[in-house]
Amino acid sequence: MPQPQPVLADLTGAAVFLVLTVEEGGERAVRDLLPDLGGLARSVSTRAPHDGLSLVVGIGSDAWDRLFAGPRPAGLHPFEELAGPRHLAPATPGDLLLHVRAERMDLCFELATRVTGRLGAAVSVVDETHGFRYFDCRDLIGFVDGTENPVGRDAADAVLIGDEDPAFAGGSYVVVQKYLHDMDGWNALSTERQELIIGRTKLDNVELDDAVKPADSHVALNTVTGPDGEGLDIRRLNMPFGSFTEGGECGTYFIGYARDPWVTEEMLRNMFLGRGPAAHDRLLDFSTPVTGTLFHVPSADFLSGPPPAPGTAAARAQADATSAPQPPAPSANPAVRDGSLRIGSLKRSPSP
Ligand code: HEM
Repeated sequence: MPQPQPVLADLTGAAVFLVLTVEEGGERAVRDLLPDLGGLARSVSTRAPHDGLSLVVGIGSDAWDRLFAGPRPAGLHPFEELAGPRHLAPATPGDLLLHVRAERMDLCFELATRVTGRLGAAVSVVDETHGFRYFDCRDLIGFVDGTENPVGRDAADAVLIGDEDPAFAGGSYVVVQKYLHDMDGWNALSTERQELIIGRTKLDNVELDDAVKPADSHVALNTVTGPDGEGLDIRRLNMPFGSFTEGGECGTYFIGYARDPWVTEEMLRNMFLGRGPAAHDRLLDFSTPVTGTLFHVPSADFLSGPPPAPGTAAARAQADATSAPQPPAPSANPAVRDGSLRIGSLKRSPSP
């Protein structure tokens, strides 16, 4: 399998999330940067080798066609807004995502400075969020976040594209949403009420028994299964953030990597549109998303040697060379596959 970007790297003490749009005519600068990203990250991380610096870049659906000729990743599409009876998950602009992680914010800041410095006026920053670790990996609402993330081979299976889309194997998909918390409303609840909303105990972080866990709890609605009853996972690397200007705002930056974006989208449908007896995820009564964007995360090998730019002689030559009839790319929607999500059941090369 091609070398992935470091999507499987661990949760760190600090992160910078940058969502950028590419200006008209800025495509060249972005394409020129992509093969250099690994070297830029190494130039900073080698100076602090034990602090877990990593960079993942994601590319949005519209930007893909402006940057690359040739086939698209099968599951790449714009984030779809979800309008439930009470709560809205908006879709907001974003051509590039930079997910910079390290134990130390100075390393994140240094690498983000170098990357944005290279891009200059080719991009605009539409959202910038600086995340931090809060005590023992808790959200600002006080609950430990990330407990049920898959690990090891399960994480690779949940996150990395395999044989189902061979041209993009080793890649992934990522959804980001910036949630703002109503801390006064949340803090007015008893701990017992908060635990019923999340579906876990607050202090010692134990999942509530099915007999008491409400159907509209966050954990219940984010338990998604495939056609054979197998659990479908994503890998979340959420971080708290906050500021004090203009009354202050704080929240959770949700970031979920998945091999198939359908899994994350199904979780979001459950949260915002409800499932069975649950009208919506009760956590949404206290936390509101203000952004929502989906990106493809190409493999590191793809970034090192991307396909030609659209409209170029190289792109035409590539199109001629591949004009022999090809089998259709598999759909990201499991309903139009063979009835199986195939998560975890594909023949895969050993993970790196
Ligand atoms: C305000 C935003 C959010 C907060 C504060 C939050 C917080 C939490 C917490 C505290 C847990 C329990 C511990 C754990 O297993 O991590 C959890 C579980 C989970 N969350 Fe979230 N979350 C948020 C948004 C989301 C979104 C948008 C999704 C999916 C699109 C999601 C998917 C999940 C999943 C899959 C689990 C694990 C469920 C299981 O136990 O199997 N979360 N979240």
